[in-house]
Amino acid sequence: MKTLAVLVTAAALTTLAGPAQAASAAPRKPARIVLATALPVTSACVVVGVGTTGVATGSRVTVIDDGRVIGRSRVTAGKAIVPISSKVQGSRVTVVVAGQRRIITVRTDAAALAASPWLVVNKKVSAGSSTPPRLTTSGNLRLQPSAAGAYEKMAKTAARQGTSLWVASSYRSAARQKSLYTAYVARDGREAADTYSARPGHSEHQTGLAVDVAGSSCTLSGCFADTAAGRFVKSDAYKYGFVVRYPKGADATTGYRYEPWHLRYVGPWLAGYLHSVGSLTLERAFALPAAPDYAN
Ligand code: DAL
Ligand code: ZN
Repeated sequence: MKTLAVLVTAAALTTLAGPAQAASAAPRKPARIVLATALPVTSACVVVGVGTTGVATGSRVTVIDDGRVIGRSRVTAGKAIVPISSKVQGSRVTVVVAGQRRIITVRTDAAALAASPWLVVNKKVSAGSSTPPRLTTSGNLRLQPSAAGAYEKMAKTAARQGTSLWVASSYRSAARQKSLYTAYVARDGREAADTYSARPGHSEHQTGLAVDVAGSSCTLSGCFADTAAGRFVKSDAYKYGFVVRYPKGADATTGYRYEPWHLRYVGPWLAGYLHSVGSLTLERAFALPAAPDYAN
C-alpha cells in the first residue's frame, strides 16, 4: 500500500514536471553539416565555409587532410569559417563538426581563384593580370553575373521602398584604375591618394565583384552614410550578398579609410555570417595579414 502511494506520487510529479520541461528544453535538432564548401581566397589560402544545424555555438570544427589537422575553428550561429593553406596533399579534405564528417573537394588553381566570390585583393595581395571569368553589363553596371543579379535585385527592392541606388562605378580594368590613381596622385599626392584609391593591380574593382553605390545626394564621400541610400546598404546589403568592404575604423586592416559606398559581393551565405558576427573585414574573417600598406 505504502509502495503504491509512493508510485502514485512519483507519477503525479512526473506529469506536473512534463509541460515545464518541454517549455524549457525544446527538442534539439540532430547535429548536421548542411553546407561545406572550400573556396580559394588568395594563391596561398583557401577558406572552408561550414553551415550546420543542431550544433551549439562554440563547438569545434576541424579540417583534416591526409590524417593531419590543417584547420580549426568554432561554430558561431550555426556557421564557421576555417582558413587552410592552399597546399593540401590531395584535392579532398574532411570537415568534422560534432561527430559529423563531410568530405569536400578543394580547388586551388588560378581559374578557381579568379572565379571565387571570396577572392581577396588588397594592398598586400595583388589581382595580378587576372581578369574576371565573366562580366555582365546592364546600363552603368558591369559585374560578374552573380554579383550583377544580386545588385539588381537589391536596387529593385530599395526602389520599391522609395530609395534610389545608382551605380557610380563597378568593374574597372587595370588600365582604368591606373588612370584614376595617377590623377588622384597628381591632385592630392601619393600618400593621400593611397588612403582612398588603390594602385593598379590592387583594386577590388578589377575583380568584377565591387560596386560603388551612389544615392541622389552625396556621392563617393563619407556623407553617403547619412543618406537614405547609405542607410539602406548599411542595413540591407548583406541580404543580397554584399558587404561594406572598408568599414569605419578599419584602416589599419584594410588600408583604406571608411567607404560606406563601396560594396563587395561575397554571396549571401558569407555576407550573412559576417553581419551576424559584427561586420568583420575579409582580412580578419579569413585570418589573413592586415594590409595597411604596400610591400614596396
Ligand atoms: N577606392 C578603392 C579602395 C579602390 O580604388 O579600389
Ligand atoms: Zn569602390
